[in-house]
Amino acid sequence: MVSNNIMGYKEQIDLSRLPEHVAIIMDGNGRWAKGKGKLRIFGHHNGVLSVRDVVEGAGELGVKYLTLYTFSAENWNRPSIEVTAIMELLVSTINKEIKKLMQNNVRLNAIGDLNMLPGKCHRELLGAIEKTSGNTGLVLTLALSYSSRRELAQAAKNIALKVQQGELNPEDVTEEVFAQNLYTHNLPDPELLIRTSGEFRISNYLLWQIAYAELYFTHKLWPDFRREDLYEAILDYQKRERRFGMTSEQVN
Ligand code: FPP
Repeated sequence: MVSNNIMGYKEQIDLSRLPEHVAIIMDGNGRWAKGKGKLRIFGHHNGVLSVRDVVEGAGELGVKYLTLYTFSAENWNRPSIEVTAIMELLVSTINKEIKKLMQNNVRLNAIGDLNMLPGKCHRELLGAIEKTSGNTGLVLTLALSYSSRRELAQAAKNIALKVQQGELNPEDVTEEVFAQNLYTHNLPDPELLIRTSGEFRISNYLLWQIAYAELYFTHKLWPDFRREDLYEAILDYQKRERRFGMTSEQVN
């Protein structure tokens, strides 16, 4: 059902000033399920419906990059029954959604320590990435087994190795060179970071990349989040003045 409110948010968005890249920390699946007297995995299953709606809504609007914090490196420490269920959900979702991704011209991408994923999950993921690699619409990046600190440490290691092998001079290690050694080397920095569920934390997500991102927090739990919530966040983003360290007069 489309309410006036939904139409309202979308219509108010200035399409010439869309954030090119939106990153989301999808949080609150467990609490959502608990609130309904269900198991946590019920929340993750319903979280997939939010993913589907937000991916469609973002693509429809013209957002170019959407990056979803799907499974953190720290999440491996959850009870194994939940980890297994999330991995199975990932596989079944990829299989179920691949047709839709092709229809919607979405290119799937992933960042994180993907080698940690169970073999089947890893293979299905790489297969879907390959299958959608020619698509030219929204780039949907799933952060899986992702830790920003690990990503940064890995980048430092790569650079140190290049210096050691004489491929790079220490004085040539610029911000750009550093960024080129991150998982996100082929993505622009997010301009907008959304976190659901009323938590005001970054939780080891894209620490380098969000240096100038606008942060948007909502109390909605992820399974309740839909495209109109994304539109509301984008509207809020458009009302802000992004100064990048300059004065208000300078940016105006
Ligand atoms: C956070 O809620 C959610 C996760 C750790 C998993 C996210 C996974 C999905 C939305 C489903 C799979 C997604 C795709 C793209 C196939 P939480 O469990 O931390 O909730 P809580 O803070 O209330 O416990």
